[in-house]
Amino acid sequence: MRTSRISGFYRLGVSERLSIVKDFAGLTDEEVNLLQTSKMGLLIADKMIENVIGTFELPLGIATNFLINGKDYLIPMAIEEPSVVAAASNAARMCREGGGLFAVSTDPLMIAQIQLVGVTSPHTAVMKILQHKDEIVRIANEKDPLLISLGGGVRDVEVRVIQTPVGPMVITHLIVDVRDAMGANVVNTMAEAVGPYIEKITGGKVLLRIVSNLADRRLVRVWTRVPKEAVGGPEVVDGIVYAWAFAASDPYRAATHNKGIMNGVIAVALATGQDTRALEAGAHAYAARSGRYTTLSTWEKDENGDLVGYLEMPMAVGIVGGATRVNPLAKISLKILGVKTARELAEVMGAVGLAQNLAALRALVAEGIQRGHMKLHARQIAIAAGAHGEEVDKVVAEMLKEGIIRIDKAKEILSRLRGTT
Ligand code: MEV
Repeated sequence: MRTSRISGFYRLGVSERLSIVKDFAGLTDEEVNLLQTSKMGLLIADKMIENVIGTFELPLGIATNFLINGKDYLIPMAIEEPSVVAAASNAARMCREGGGLFAVSTDPLMIAQIQLVGVTSPHTAVMKILQHKDEIVRIANEKDPLLISLGGGVRDVEVRVIQTPVGPMVITHLIVDVRDAMGANVVNTMAEAVGPYIEKITGGKVLLRIVSNLADRRLVRVWTRVPKEAVGGPEVVDGIVYAWAFAASDPYRAATHNKGIMNGVIAVALATGQDTRALEAGAHAYAARSGRYTTLSTWEKDENGDLVGYLEMPMAVGIVGGATRVNPLAKISLKILGVKTARELAEVMGAVGLAQNLAALRALVAEGIQRGHMKLHARQIAIAAGAHGEEVDKVVAEMLKEGIIRIDKAKEILSRLRGTT
């Protein structure tokens, strides 16, 4: 009987699980072999998640030409979509002509939320929590002596009252410097540790204690200036600014604009073993922070007519803990990148995001412009071949249809039209 109700599946070895799935799904021996062919190693995979039967691969490409804060990087990108790696390399080459990309990042501050309900006077609870801030910080920091020794730990405690459909709640944020970790585990542990103390001092009930993926204290900011000639001329610069303005004013376009940024960010995230869902959640929540979803980047023209791009987004990434240190392929990607800190990785990823965005906008704008150019060019050729009046449009249309825009072609078409061949 084919059933998905399999008790104790997790207790089986990888090959036993695989043989159950083979029978269930009618997999061939070849398919089973493919599932077992693992670069990462099935033993490692089996430690990373539950019920493992194999590993799943993506192409890993290298984007070239990146100059970020004056340093050269080769960028490993894992992605299924064609053109992304080539586009990133191409855009990085254009940015290079203006000196490259420049990135800064904030301290690696993550937020843990503690939800308190059942207090009759929420603002009194706020005051009590703030009065006991030092003790809260002490309890949280006690949970991670290693982080403290590395210079991290709780930096602040913030408290808000929020109105909800089931009444007011008191929300405490622990603001934690997580150093080179992504930090979700670190802050979750801290939030769980301070929960009982917050209950004790307020008399309320603590419910959720969990990281916020709106990592708006852990931002990366990237800037680049692309000379107008490098991007394809003044028309392309104007086109990109118009394309950005469209996205800045329309959430339907902004979602796609930001998707183009995330093509770059997530490809590096996958290659380096990051939590891609956390990055996506953070990026889109940040893009909607004003109450209206908009772009993470802006594009403008400077006084020389050159293109200037700016990107600001949360970037919760780590180079210690999590998959980054368990997955040997992620370790190799980090080695190729040569980043020394989580902040440096965040800056590189932001730079790739902005370059990817430039590549997408340029392709969208310049291809349209290119077609326009070809038409103009074809008109000139038709006229040079001797076409008059209505003949011009007919010769142009025929040349565009045939994809050959040359004087000899124009003459040949013209003769055909006049019946002189
Ligand atoms: C495709 O993966 C990404 C683009 O749609 C982004 C954009 O439209 O800006 C090209």
